[in-house]
Amino acid sequence: MRSLWLTLWCLWCVVALVQSVSARPQAGTIQELLEAPASEYVQNIFVNGAVALSTSAGSVRALEGAQNPLLNSVGAAALLFTLKKCSILEPHVHTNTPELYYAISGSGTFSLWSSNGSVVHLKTPITAGSYMVIPAGWPHMITGPETSSTPLTLIASYLSGAPQVYFLAGKGSVFEGTSATTMAAAFNVTPSAYTQFFGAQGGVGIVFNSTCLGH
Ligand SMILES: *[C@@H]1O[C@H](CO)[C@@H](O)[C@H](O)[C@H]1NC(C)=O
Ligand SMILES: *[C@@H]1O[C@H](CO)[C@@H](O)[C@H](O)[C@H]1NC(C)=O
Repeated sequence: MRSLWLTLWCLWCVVALVQSVSARPQAGTIQELLEAPASEYVQNIFVNGAVALSTSAGSVRALEGAQNPLLNSVGAAALLFTLKKCSILEPHVHTNTPELYYAISGSGTFSLWSSNGSVVHLKTPITAGSYMVIPAGWPHMITGPETSSTPLTLIASYLSGAPQVYFLAGKGSVFEGTSATTMAAAFNVTPSAYTQFFGAQGGVGIVFNSTCLGH
């Protein structure tokens, strides 16, 4: 009798253990959310965003999973872009996440290609309030204003704590193998401006449009 109870109790132990494991959400998620400081739930990207790039053509501030346990736990990241007059955020692709852009101020243009390279938008004007949806794997390009000196500012949100980025000439891109001269001619920038981003896997490329600057 005693061994029967022991056996039943052990069976219950196993069932309870299996239930508690299968009911548990993804490893560490709840714990990570509880451990994140309250300050991470409301952040100011202008202040708290790490400077990822800063050039005379524009800048990028980042709230990413690597620096931010809360964003990592929920699988999200955000970038703040400031694109000055005659700048181009070069055509690039995010392979592991859609991207959602929201223009805060200024004006510029938006270009989007489907994953097979067909044109969906080509330099469509955008302004404060424009919201742009970019499926994973679709190349896109943003340009700053061509005549106004008020920069275009945009927030980009990603459904990954670590969004991957490939520029058009990069690995996995629909334009892989296209020469720098061809790309530069197509996007109206100098070949050297384009070439400096060929090795920029994992980075963000903002260049000046020399034709625009000359006006
Ligand atoms: C490319 O994609 C577009 C939109 O998804 C589609 O309409 C078009 O037929 C595709 N072209 C080729 C060559 O597959
Ligand atoms: C570069 O500037 C010229 C002149 O303003 C413009 O026609 C062209 O579309 C621009 N190129 C890009 C990629 O925005």
